[in-house]
Amino acid sequence: MTELKNLHVEKRETTLVITISREKALNALNKETVAELQQVFDSHQDDDSIRAVVITGAGPKAFVAGADIAEMSALDAAGGTELSAGGLALTMTIQTFPKPVIAAINGFALGGGCELAMACDIRLASEKARLGQPEVNLGVIPGYGGTQRLSRLVGRGKAMQLVLTGEMIDAAEAHRIGLVDEVFPPEQLIDKALEMAKVIATKGPLAVAAAKGCINRGLDVDLSAGCDIEKNAFGGLFDTSDQTEGMKAFMEKRKAEFTGK
Ligand code: CAA
Repeated sequence: MTELKNLHVEKRETTLVITISREKALNALNKETVAELQQVFDSHQDDDSIRAVVITGAGPKAFVAGADIAEMSALDAAGGTELSAGGLALTMTIQTFPKPVIAAINGFALGGGCELAMACDIRLASEKARLGQPEVNLGVIPGYGGTQRLSRLVGRGKAMQLVLTGEMIDAAEAHRIGLVDEVFPPEQLIDKALEMAKVIATKGPLAVAAAKGCINRGLDVDLSAGCDIEKNAFGGLFDTSDQTEGMKAFMEKRKAEFTGK
């Protein structure tokens, strides 16, 4: 892996903790940061020592305040399309990453920051977090999947309201509408995210990956196609040692020792 300038990446037991570290620009995503995030996810795709990922932002103020406006301001249509393609590739990599990804939203999650959080599987927020898609204030629209993932998470009306007004909402409102899953006092946020990652790490990794895939893929197809996706994934797990071990451990009244095989 080449040296990372904008991220701090640390392995805590089986959890990879990625901290976006451009505090002076409220952790705004410049192209280099997007490329570094892509590199980190790509290089851990097959890393069996990692069972979950936590993404957060450096400092007390921001998770990510959006794509880097200074960098973006001079782009033409081709440049804008290319920028969007890079962010969309990253968010799709996160959504299809074989391990769960938890966003620990420690402050502003705006524009590309909200979109990054929405690509994650679970969103935990600090009571101080503020979220929104303010792109219309800049004469553009969300470009890292916001018009697509926000409506899938909170429904068409709320997505329209947030994207068309560009207004920010606080953590309590984000929780109420289903944009974040749990809210914690700021000082507890990272520990709660790590705790959740640790709980997931005790489960069968193949089952966790299959469940994530089924939920995500199922949302893009009709119910019966989604149920077929589930049936095939469910059946496939019966060919794994983890299924044998998980059910044997239950019957022997002991904790399962999953190997991810
Ligand atoms: N890009 C680049 N720099 C940013 C930034 C961004 N998205 N957000 C904040 N910064 C910089 C500011 O320019 C400022 O830098 P200087 O100290 O050098 O002037 C520094 O971070 C601190 O910001 P503020 O002084 O503005 O802090 P504040 O507390 O007064 O306001 C804020 C905080 C409300 C988050 C405000 O910074 C803000 O509105 N930021 C922009 C949010 C935004 O519009 N995000 C969407 C970007 S577009 C996008 O993301 C497109 C997409 O979908 C891919």
